[in-house]
Amino acid sequence: MALVKLFLEHPRVASVYAFSRTPCSIASPKLIQGQLDVTDEKSVRKCAELVGNDSPLDIVVVATGILWLGETLRPEKSLRELDIDKLSQVFAVNAAGPAIVAKHFLPRLRKGSKTVFAALSARVGSIGDNRLGGWYSYRASKAALNMLLKTLSIEQARLWPQSVVIGLHPGTVDTGLSRPYSKRTSPDKLFPPSTSAAHLVEVLDRVAPADTGGVFAWDGKPVEN
Ligand SMILES: NC(=O)c1ccc[n+]([C@@H]2O[C@H](COP(=O)([O-])OP(=O)(O)OC[C@H]3O[C@@H](n4cnc5c(N)ncnc54)[C@H](OP(=O)(O)O)[C@@H]3O)[C@@H](O)[C@H]2O)c1
Repeated sequence: MALVKLFLEHPRVASVYAFSRTPCSIASPKLIQGQLDVTDEKSVRKCAELVGNDSPLDIVVVATGILWLGETLRPEKSLRELDIDKLSQVFAVNAAGPAIVAKHFLPRLRKGSKTVFAALSARVGSIGDNRLGGWYSYRASKAALNMLLKTLSIEQARLWPQSVVIGLHPGTVDTGLSRPYSKRTSPDKLFPPSTSAAHLVEVLDRVAPADTGGVFAWDGKPVEN
């Protein structure tokens, strides 16, 4: 929502498509909405068709993800808590979902100028940075997302050398996803969604084709894989 708001306010942005499960409450003549569940390929295809071929996209951002769901799904503290259904659910939303969005939306990107396809990843998906352990399914699903992005960046660069495919770490952001786990985060390190969104738009603006395949944090610094 914070990203949609920022894009709508941007003078260089002519129109914004916001596809989500829950409709976005913003009203704007620049906004086109559609219903999309990243685990339902039919809904993803339908939304991509709504974009059509006549108005190619410059930027696609996949901002979906899950870490916990009510009492039924919590990030695992130890191996004993691993559950095949829960692992599959987290992988479906965090890794497979954005890849399916890429399958249907990469062909809708403008050809011949810089375009960006970005998916919100997380620093905890970095294998090299994993010093604490825990959060098995979330960490592994984000690592898988990073690999999917890297792989499709290679295929995309062969077709369109000016395209950029990246993962983004938004920082620790005060949203429903992080709230149960961000109590010990110092206030200066816990971003309101609008602050994180502003940082991410700057990163989207600054990245170049040479950056494709990488993961970048809110401050533009690369996150190791
Ligand atoms: N918050 C943080 O500190 C933090 C840190 C690092 C990375 N991230 C990443 O940033 C991204 C955004 O997270 P957030 O903090 O903004 O959390 P959020 O407020 O919970 O947003 C997550 C969004 O994902 C959507 N979603 C979940 N499953 C979906 C599905 N199957 N199909 C379509 N949409 C689905 C939710 O839609 P509904 O509203 O319909 O449920 C919700 O809008 C995630 O990828 C997260 O992993 C967040």
